[in-house]
Amino acid sequence: RLPKSVRMVEVGPRDGLQNEMKPVPAATKIALIDKLSGSGLSVIEAGAFVSPKWVPQMADSAEVLAGIKRLPGRRYPVLVPNLKGYEAASAAKVDEIAVFAAASESFSQKNINCSIAESIERFRPVTEAARRDRVRIRGYVSCVLGCPYEGEIAPAKVAEVSKALLDLGCEEISLGDTIGVGTPGKAQAMVETVAKQVPRERLAVHFHDTYGQALANILATLELGIDVVDSAVAGLGGCPYAPGASGNVASEDVLYMLTGLGIETGVDLERLAEAGIFITRALGRQPASRVAQALAAK
Ligand code: HMG
Ligand code: MG
Repeated sequence: RLPKSVRMVEVGPRDGLQNEMKPVPAATKIALIDKLSGSGLSVIEAGAFVSPKWVPQMADSAEVLAGIKRLPGRRYPVLVPNLKGYEAASAAKVDEIAVFAAASESFSQKNINCSIAESIERFRPVTEAARRDRVRIRGYVSCVLGCPYEGEIAPAKVAEVSKALLDLGCEEISLGDTIGVGTPGKAQAMVETVAKQVPRERLAVHFHDTYGQALANILATLELGIDVVDSAVAGLGGCPYAPGASGNVASEDVLYMLTGLGIETGVDLERLAEAGIFITRALGRQPASRVAQALAAK
């Protein structure tokens, strides 16, 4: 019942670093992304063309995109909230963009300063331009298992927003448990509800590990046929507009679990863990990944 292979989408350089208070130099981000590419990851989210007033840490995304070594067969998506962001992303010659909506009205207001319906309308010209330019489009839905401001979120709302993103031309919809409150049964129920509106092979899961449930949630959704999983090396991350959200599930931990299950990823654990050590040293701390800690102790 489990998939034979899984595509790991590395979001550390974006979702991970966007929340760091101290500026991380572009050169460090570039070195991190190149190390992640070297580990065999095929998709590495490399930045965000958002307002620098809202997320200062991503202000150097153009410099980062210009500095990385783009390996063949890899993609380096960036977040884009509006046309202004698309123009900057396009000038940086990105190969994929991600638009981001939420299943919670309050979170939508706090994160992108507009309602869910307004965000979909704002994404329309962005996705039209991307389709014209043959740039791949991913869509995110935040707060799929709970909202820091509204609490529980109805799976039907998640399905509705996911379908709206699909209709805009998103090739993949990533379902984000932004604050990591989900548990496996709820994650399965949510995915089953969304899968009635969006083909399952177009869905990805994006878990934060705030309550330590991320790996269990991932396994539960793999059992439903999901085969694209977002994670961040060293468990970096959080969201500046989601108080209390801790890091994304650690890529090393996801990879260790998938490998143990006999699922192919094309990613080398040792090189991935080295990338995690590199960035956490630069940030002055230890990787949050349990696997990375165990490997370092050997
Ligand atoms: P706004 O203030 O309503 O926008 O923000 P505005 O159009 O009125 O513009 C305000 C200022 O920002 C103007 O500058 C614009 O030029 C500038 P000023 O005239 O004051 O000098 N501006 C921009 N600058 C650069 N790039 C742009 C851009 N757009 C406007 N693209 C806006 C609306 C959407 C821009 C803002 O709210 C924003 O940038 N939000 C981004 C928030 C964000 O990045 N959050 C984190 C990512 S989402 C996430 O982490 C969740 C996820 O991981 C999944 C999950 O875990 O759930 C994806
Ligand atoms: Mg996230």
